[in-house]
Amino acid sequence: MAKKLKVAVIGVGNISTFHIKNYLSNPDTELVAFCDINPETLKKKGEMYGVEKLFTDYHEMLEKVPEIDLVSVCTWNNAHAPASIAALNAGKHVLCEKPMAMNAKEAEEMREAARRNGRILQVGFVRRFGNDAAVIRDFAEHGNLGELYYARASYVRRNGNPGGWFGNKKLSGGGPLIDLGVHVIDLVRYLMGNPAPVSVYGAAFHKLGNRKNIKTPRAYSAPALETEDVCDVEDLATALIRFEGGAVLNVQAGFCLNLGKDETNIELFGTKGGVQLDPAFNLYTEMNDYLADVKLAADTAFDFEAAFQGEVYSFIDAVQGRGSVRATADDGVALMKILDAIYRSAETGEEVLIGA
Ligand SMILES: NC(=O)c1ccc[n+]([C@@H]2O[C@H](COP(=O)([O-])OP(=O)(O)OC[C@H]3O[C@@H](n4cnc5c(N)ncnc54)[C@H](O)[C@@H]3O)[C@@H](O)[C@H]2O)c1
Repeated sequence: MAKKLKVAVIGVGNISTFHIKNYLSNPDTELVAFCDINPETLKKKGEMYGVEKLFTDYHEMLEKVPEIDLVSVCTWNNAHAPASIAALNAGKHVLCEKPMAMNAKEAEEMREAARRNGRILQVGFVRRFGNDAAVIRDFAEHGNLGELYYARASYVRRNGNPGGWFGNKKLSGGGPLIDLGVHVIDLVRYLMGNPAPVSVYGAAFHKLGNRKNIKTPRAYSAPALETEDVCDVEDLATALIRFEGGAVLNVQAGFCLNLGKDETNIELFGTKGGVQLDPAFNLYTEMNDYLADVKLAADTAFDFEAAFQGEVYSFIDAVQGRGSVRATADDGVALMKILDAIYRSAETGEEVLIGA
């Protein structure tokens, strides 16, 4: 039997569970070490999954457990770049959660570290691995949608600032744009064939804060921080993003907005058909000069667990030379350039051009 790849996870909070479960179920990998700056979280997750090599410092882990082959980076956003670069410099392949980094400069440094060390760096754009994305890519590649020229996407909550590190810019890099917007912007870009971004016009609002005054229970809540509980991120961001070739995405991402109910909606429009994903998965087209609505079967809808398995398994396959990386460092850098430009445009009130 071939030797199993040895895996370490840096940051073993909430989302790490989905990485861990899939490394456990994949026959080609075994978990060997965990790292977290929070000793209680570290101990709990170590016991839960039978991992005994536990560290509160990833430099120490990389030095003391040289047999590690792969690392998942699931920390707060501020540690994505330093932890990924340390792992890449130690010769490990890295799957780093989204957003790739705090900004494009850090993302470029991560990409450079992967190149320099000849290692794979995959970004955790999980929506690329959804069933719905596969079906739409299939439609687009077979010409069923024609030229995709416009998309609109919203990921907006009424009272959904999770607090903790999510609201603290030093740890997160920003608010709903960098946390939620990143998913839908990347998904639309992927479905359009990964066009390069050209320019953005954006706005961001700091009006409602984290709505701590609201007594109605909230659905989103991050672990409390021992440090000061600040909220200095935007509560809503919106932007028009123009891509090479002329396609435009109109995006909204919000933690807090006085709207009726939380909204997730992604629509792409082409000359031959339009698709709507989330909440429904429908195709709007024409047949024999009639407008026709096609409702896709339920098993083509997005399934988070299945998509996560696809993401982790695809990373393992890429490391073993059995497939290519579907969410590359280049894709991560392109996304960070878009996000940087939206934040800059929001500050200046001007359209921002994005260089190559
Ligand atoms: N793909 C998705 O759909 C998805 C969903 C949720 C979160 N995420 C991303 O996953 C990351 C983690 O989010 P979460 O919700 O799991 O947060 P979390 O707070 O539950 O977990 C993060 C963990 O990282 C640890 N940590 C922070 N800095 C560290 C460092 N320097 N070294 C080691 N450990 C460190 C924290 O102590 C914490 O236990 C974020 O980047 C977030 O954007 C992705």
